[in-house]
Amino acid sequence: RSGPPRGKGGLGFEPVAPNKADALTVPKGYRSSAVVRWGDPVLPGAPAFDFDNQTAEAQAMQFGYNCDYVTLFEMNRNRGLLWVNHEYTDENLMFRGYTGGTAATEEQIKIAMAAHGGSVVEVERVRNTGEWKLVTNGRRRYNRRITVSTPMRFSGPAAGSDLLKTAADPKGVKPVGMLNNCAGGTTPWGTVLTAEENFNQYFVNGDKVPEAQKPYITRYSIPSGTAGRRFDRIEERFDLEKHPNEVNRFGWIVEIDPFDPDSTPIKRTALGRFAHEAATTTISRDGRLVAYMGDDSRFEYVYKFVSKGRYIKGHDRHNRTLLDEGTLYVARFTGDSPKEELDGSGRLPSDGAFDGSGEWIPLVSGDRSFVEGMTAAEVLVYTRAAADKVSATKMDRPEDMERNPVTGGVYIALTNNSNRTPAQVDEANPRAANKHGHVVELIEQRDDAAAKKFSWSVPLVCGDPNDPSTYFAGFDKTKVSPISCPDNLAFDPDGNLWISTDGNALGTNDGLFVMPVKGKERGYVRQFLTVPVAAETCGPLISDDQLSVWVAVQHPGEADGATPDRPASRWPDGEGSQPRPSVAVVWHERGKKIGA
Ligand code: FEO
Ligand code: CA
Ligand code: CA
Ligand code: CA
Repeated sequence: RSGPPRGKGGLGFEPVAPNKADALTVPKGYRSSAVVRWGDPVLPGAPAFDFDNQTAEAQAMQFGYNCDYVTLFEMNRNRGLLWVNHEYTDENLMFRGYTGGTAATEEQIKIAMAAHGGSVVEVERVRNTGEWKLVTNGRRRYNRRITVSTPMRFSGPAAGSDLLKTAADPKGVKPVGMLNNCAGGTTPWGTVLTAEENFNQYFVNGDKVPEAQKPYITRYSIPSGTAGRRFDRIEERFDLEKHPNEVNRFGWIVEIDPFDPDSTPIKRTALGRFAHEAATTTISRDGRLVAYMGDDSRFEYVYKFVSKGRYIKGHDRHNRTLLDEGTLYVARFTGDSPKEELDGSGRLPSDGAFDGSGEWIPLVSGDRSFVEGMTAAEVLVYTRAAADKVSATKMDRPEDMERNPVTGGVYIALTNNSNRTPAQVDEANPRAANKHGHVVELIEQRDDAAAKKFSWSVPLVCGDPNDPSTYFAGFDKTKVSPISCPDNLAFDPDGNLWISTDGNALGTNDGLFVMPVKGKERGYVRQFLTVPVAAETCGPLISDDQLSVWVAVQHPGEADGATPDRPASRWPDGEGSQPRPSVAVVWHERGKKIGA
């Protein structure tokens, strides 16, 4: 047998070399297939995808664009419901001759609106293997599309607050649609938490809101003037000059029940409003529900929500109230090395580690605000402004967070922050002009997810291992794979950390990597797959039986200057086709455990 020796976590695959291939490249012995592609029929009666004859009506029944978060609810061993986020649209790749939202046809804008949101699709396993296929026949009773037009509701302490009221919804309880859903999480009661991230880009005339609102428009980077996709040309609510509060109705964690296609998605206001990357839940020592959340922008914060009530297995009605009452915290990281030992080069301080202690600072609990000068509703709707006031730690773009099912450690992907200056370096964000990002490991006090204190360290500073500013937990750097811009995280049941990347700044394609976090192989990063040209790797999901890896291949072919007449990728359909964002599954051809 060739290849590196198999370690404790059972990882023995031959890593994939960095490359620029227009392909989903997997290790020797593995196979992959695109399970569901942009435009594939989701609802019964949906037409087949036809790139040159798209309609909004068809798109609202078909799989949306730019798949991101992926999770699988297994109904039995051979059948499941796949939930997928559709983060955003790239009209330059979707339509021939597109020159921007102002010149776009109304139909094109409506197609883009329908291509956002999420999908529920039924999938089935292929004969006892790790391969899965889209179910295309039968009733498919759970299949569902969520779009910009889906009726939703607010719950939690800010529901009905003045800040959420609009002309169309004078009670401030019935938002419509969700936008820019990036990653997410699941709840122990079998629902999806999907995270509205860069919702700011869908609004126009941010400079024309009432004076008192303007600081928050700035704090949330809402654009001035009229540019972008111009959803306002179809629905006036996206024009903030006319409907200034509409923007406050986006930027939430949305809970959706995949098993009830008629259910109303719920925007959970107790979890705060920011560029939500994801929400990862776990249970505290005393049974409360905890959700970890990152705000993915430069110099933004890491949050967690701790429910007031306890999770009771099987008590569905009770459990579904847990995300409405509790405390929202923001993280402050304090390094243990002297500031003068942190020069921004990435060189380790004299104690040999970027590490220290931290605390969770309460912002709001139900109707009670802990932030001076802000009401509870203001803290929940303008969470960034609240966190600014309590000296939380400004991080290098907090993306996904995951808790290790074996060790209990919580991991945070900090994707990059080229704007951090040497003067702004701190021990939790130790590299200036951080092009490649890093990973923070957070250990809650007493391993209790509800703890108010924690310790932390930085096991991975990404980049080319030959670059002295990188760090792979002290593992031999001649053996590791180069890795850049960590984004989504997942754990396999053995406790190995899987890291997908977005925006590889080393000049090769993005991919999926695995890194053990304990034992002799801690820091041994190996690349498991690469995605096609100009795509980012989303998902990822390692199935509980460890026979399948799911990844969402987002924006294949999204390269500078690429158009349908000059595509940069033809994945997954090949010669003569247009690139289609798709969810793919990877399995071992002889049924070995993933990574073996
Ligand atoms: Fe949509 Fe933060 O990645
Ligand atoms: Ca230190
Ligand atoms: Ca992401
Ligand atoms: Ca990202």
